[in-house]
Amino acid sequence: MTYVIGSACVDVVDKSCVQDCPADCIYEGERSLYINPEECVDCAACAFICKVDAIYYETDLPEDQQAHLADNAAFFTEVLPGRDAPLGNPGGAGEIGKLGVDTPLVAAMPHKSAAG
Ligand code: F3S
Ligand code: F3S
Repeated sequence: MTYVIGSACVDVVDKSCVQDCPADCIYEGERSLYINPEECVDCAACAFICKVDAIYYETDLPEDQQAHLADNAAFFTEVLPGRDAPLGNPGGAGEIGKLGVDTPLVAAMPHKSAAG
């Protein structure tokens, strides 16, 4: 089981969750962050700290956020645009740094205004 980052993170990327994750399993794309479902230890710290409530336990995802369960996983299992291999399970987001690329689902989302 895993926690999942939903669409509220897109264009916000507050990153408080990264600092609180004991597994260092929250990876940075371009407009959003993604939780590695193989590395997440289900501690819930990220969900508590996120000020825009972007993070859900996988069984608590609202209907309109369901796509992010597979999408967070796809960030690690699919070959992202501009890369030649899947990210896989690196074992730590800190060493990887910002990937600068998103899944097609997130990349296609409308941009939020600065006020939003
Ligand atoms: Fe995003 Fe919330 Fe983390 S906005 S970067 S999920 S603290
Ligand atoms: Fe990390 Fe715990 Fe969230 S392991 S991804 S802070 S549930």
